[in-house]
Parts: sequence; structure tokens; C-alpha cells
Amino acid sequence: MEREPTPAVPRELRGERVLLRPSEPGDLEPILRWFNDAEMTHFLLSHAPIGREEEERWIARTTSEQGASVVYFVICRLEDRLPIGTVSLFDIDRRRRSAGFGIAVGEKSFWGRRLGTDTTRTIVDFGFRDLELERIWLHVHAYNPRGRRAYEKVGFVVEATARRALYHRGAWHDVLAMAILRSEWEALRAWPGDGSRAPSR
Ligand SMILES: CC(C)(COP(=O)(O)OP(=O)(O)OC[C@H]1O[C@@H](n2cnc3c(N)ncnc32)[C@H](O)[C@@H]1OP(=O)(O)O)[C@@H](O)C(=O)NCCC(=O)NCCS
Repeated sequence: MEREPTPAVPRELRGERVLLRPSEPGDLEPILRWFNDAEMTHFLLSHAPIGREEEERWIARTTSEQGASVVYFVICRLEDRLPIGTVSLFDIDRRRRSAGFGIAVGEKSFWGRRLGTDTTRTIVDFGFRDLELERIWLHVHAYNPRGRRAYEKVGFVVEATARRALYHRGAWHDVLAMAILRSEWEALRAWPGDGSRAPSR
């Protein structure tokens, strides 16, 4: 079977408040700080500490596979390019036209400033428009209403609840499976307004 060509991934994606760019060597220190902060990893699927070598391997892999099975960006504040987190589309499946979505705003002082919503919308737009995906999915802990709300604003809907799927800090938690389909994304984009983006809901 013929392999589909790997689409070119732009050097940068711009949202209204963020700029997404590939990782650079200088990002390693902040990334290690973010992903070894228990308050942040509390919301991620993996709570285990991350070592320097492991993170270097991950960055090397995402760099070499950029556009193939993964699209990985560092989230920067638009006005001054300050790195504040990471975002990815992963497990990109060309035949099924689906991808997983993951985000971490690592700078905690930036939580709740709509940067996560803008980042999500920007990379979802990229996934449907440029990668021609049919479906983008994610998992979010039931105890992360801020994440859930950010995804719902972009158009993700809850498809299922995996009950007691996570044991963390001495208790069982549900995990929500959410997704957005191409048709839903197109319908949201069809809203009047700036003609290109659905309004925040
Ligand atoms: C989840 C995350 C990406 C969201 O990005 P953010 O920039 O902090 O969030 P935003 O400001 O864009 O949107 C958050 C929304 O949730 C709402 N919210 C915040 N806390 C809430 C709560 N306890 N209950 C309900 N809604 C809440 C906010 O009011 C906002 O909605 P609004 O714009 O309608 O007012 C970011 O906080 C983050 O990375 N957190 C740590 C790691 C993480 O959770 N990653 C995701 C794992 S699935």
C-alpha cells in the first residue's frame, strides 16, 4: 500500500494570543521544570517525574517525526514569545484521519488566561485544515473542569466516561473521553463573526 506523504508542518502557528513553534534546545530547562511539578502533572495522564535524558529523547523523536505521527509545539505568549507550555497532536493515523490531542500550560501563573483555549483552537484548526483529519480526541480527568471547559469552548464533546479509570493520590477518579469531528468544526467555523473562527461559547 502506498504511504501518504507527510504534510509539511509550518515553522509557526499563530493564534489570537499564542504562537506555537517547534521546540528549541533552550526549552529543555523549562520543560523539565513544568513536567516535574506535581501541581501540573496532577492533571496529566502520567504523574511520574521526567528525567533529562528521557525528555531529550522525546524532543528528538518528536522533531524527527514532526508531521508524520506527531505534531509537537512549544506554546509561547504571542506578544513576547515567552514559552509557557507544550501542545501536541499525537498518534496521527492517516488512514483513519484521527489524532490524539495533549496540552500542558506549564507556567501556572498563566492558567485561566484563555491561552489554553486559544492554543487548543489553533492546533485543532491546523489538524482539520492542514492535516485533513476527521476526528481529534483527548482524555481529561473528571477532576479537571478547567481543561474540560477549555475543550468544550473549542467544540469537543464528551463521548464517554471511563469510570474509576485512574488511581491517583489515594483515590479513584473517572476519566472523560472527548472528541471533535470535522463536521462539528466546520459548523462552528460557519458562525458569522470574523468569518474564520467560531465565537467563544
Ligand atoms: C487545562 C489548560 C490547558 C486550560 O488552559 P487555560 O489557559 O488555563 O484555560 P482557559 O483560560 O483557556 O479556559 C479555562 C475555562 O475553564 C473555566 N474554569 C476554570 N476553572 C473552572 C472550574 N473549577 N470549573 C469550571 N470551569 C472552570 C474558566 O472560567 C474558563 O472558561 P471561560 O473562558 O468560559 O471563563 C491549562 O490550565 C493547563 O495546561 N493546566 C495544567 C495541565 C492540564 O490540565 N493539562 C490538560 C490535561 S487533559
